Amino acid sequence: MVNTRSILTTFVVVGSVLASEITLQTRQSDPCANIGGQKWVDPADLRACFTSVPVDPAIKENIIDVINKTLPFHASVNYQISAPEPFTDAVHEDLLKDLARISSQSYDSDYDLHLDISKTFKNLKDALFSNFLPIPLVLLTDASGTQAVHIAPEAYNVSSVEFADQIDVWEAALPKGITLKSLNGATVLSINDADPFAAVDANAEITGTFQALGLVRIREH
Ligand SMILES: *[C@@H]1O[C@H](CO)[C@@H](O)[C@H](O)[C@H]1NC(C)=O
Ligand SMILES: *[C@@H]1O[C@H](CO)[C@@H](O)[C@H](O)[C@H]1NC(C)=O
Repeated sequence: MVNTRSILTTFVVVGSVLASEITLQTRQSDPCANIGGQKWVDPADLRACFTSVPVDPAIKENIIDVINKTLPFHASVNYQISAPEPFTDAVHEDLLKDLARISSQSYDSDYDLHLDISKTFKNLKDALFSNFLPIPLVLLTDASGTQAVHIAPEAYNVSSVEFADQIDVWEAALPKGITLKSLNGATVLSINDADPFAAVDANAEITGTFQALGLVRIREH
């Protein structure tokens, strides 16, 4: 689910498009050839492909310039340097300083550059960009006011339409007798053996919001 209301996020995505164009131009002993045309690949192979593309200084400058020119359209750039309550402790991000740092820093690959831009902007914790594959987690409040992490009640309604050709891959990974559909609305008891909020917090540090991640043990309902 991509919500393009966030100008900041949109331009990070524009940067990623440029990166994939460079990828297409690089073709000798190409780690990307291993994974071309495949739907599911080993993350290590994907990383090898992404990190094989060097930074093109002209494109890097263009990306930074485009992002820099969009910042004045975003009202919160100034206050995110020292965010007001209730974000006082959570957000301290000076994007102009960040861009200056990124501009002068060298990167082993174009992927590392993009990762830095992406993580830096996500430090705003401006949760307008979410992602799910295929069980988005949401915070639901029950009638007594207790909040808990759940799989979104309409998760399957969306994933079965958006990723219709991938459902069999995910279902094959589930324990016997559990279908993706049966997980709609399930309470999440732990993620990677820890309280779900540990994963929510860890993930927010990287994604700027939170998204489905890792192993989810569920209570059937
Ligand atoms: C971003 O734009 C401002 C204002 O035009 C300029 O002073 C600054 O040097 C630019 N930063 C980068 C990294 O290009
Ligand atoms: C999801 O689909 C089920 C039927 O499969 C339907 O009953 C339910 O209303 C749908 N939920 C939403 C939010 O669309």
